[in-house]
Amino acid sequence: SDRPRVLSGIQPTAGSFHLGNYLGAVRQWVAMQETHDAFYMVVDLHAITVPQDPAELRANTRLAAAQLLGAGLDPDRCTLFVQSHVPEHAQLGWVMNCLTGFGEASRMTQFKDKSAKQGADRATVGLFTYPILQIADILLYQANAVPVGEDQRQHIELTRDLAERFNGRYGQTFTVPAPYIVKETAKIFDLQDPAIKMSKSASAPKGIINLLDEPKTSAKKIKSAVTDTGTEIRFDETGKPGISNLLTIYSTLTGAGVSELEKKYEGKGYGALKTDLAEVFVDWVTPFRARTQEFLDDPETLDSILAKGAEKARAVAAETLAQAYDRVGF
Ligand code: ADP
Ligand code: NA
Repeated sequence: SDRPRVLSGIQPTAGSFHLGNYLGAVRQWVAMQETHDAFYMVVDLHAITVPQDPAELRANTRLAAAQLLGAGLDPDRCTLFVQSHVPEHAQLGWVMNCLTGFGEASRMTQFKDKSAKQGADRATVGLFTYPILQIADILLYQANAVPVGEDQRQHIELTRDLAERFNGRYGQTFTVPAPYIVKETAKIFDLQDPAIKMSKSASAPKGIINLLDEPKTSAKKIKSAVTDTGTEIRFDETGKPGISNLLTIYSTLTGAGVSELEKKYEGKGYGALKTDLAEVFVDWVTPFRARTQEFLDDPETLDSILAKGAEKARAVAAETLAQAYDRVGF
């Protein structure tokens, strides 16, 4: 393929993806199948940087894969696999660990945030070196682009540094990737508190739309989203964060421009916008849930898709690893 190669991963979280995960990440993955040579993985190795119940981890990994397929990933158009099925990630990860300075790794702000949450004594060394495993994830596939959120930019900078360091020391081996911060990526806010991001860890139950919940439940949450005391439907992130969030969701789900929506709702109340958006969401989520459920009900098909994905991924990863090991002197 002469398309640029892209690599991205998502954690197997308990339960459902939320609307922020879909509109901020998964939707881009689906689009990039058409423009890129795309490798997407469920990052179960990363998941165990915090404690996991084995049976739950296995179930959540399948659940994540089923939702990715439900959202429109097509195993004929992309390579979808589970990280632990490709042992080369851990194998190259070790080499990268040995090339990364301790001080350099210590400067990763995400570890500081995450370990502070865990408590310094409970945070694992795996959590500390997780960005280094991420470097191996990316370099194994010679990825040109890594679509990430702004919070991951520092990790991609480290990936570039390490790729250049390895290439400088041992000879040209790895493609130096560029971050691909999708500008128009929707940042979705909590429906009850539009000052914070919709998030599994930070949102209260009424503020988060879980994609696998009963559509009726989600429709109700949309209709009771917190807005403001005004009446005008206008995109204004500081003055009207709640309404702006609803407009972003509406626009991203339908493809209608925000100004088009402002015009459509001129002179109408917030209630009309919420009722319509609830309907738009239900229309989108209903087939998503049905497709996801089909894969969950047919674990043989799901497992065979993931096995084929791992085989395709390994073909690329093994070639890169063999070259890297040879250069290192193994
Ligand atoms: P959470 O914040 O709920 O724990 P993750 O950190 O696991 O979600 O994020 C998984 C993916 O979804 C990432 O690519 C992240 O950038 C994206 N994402 C998460 N929350 C949002 C949001 N509220 N708006 C847009 N994108 C989001
Ligand atoms: Na997060």
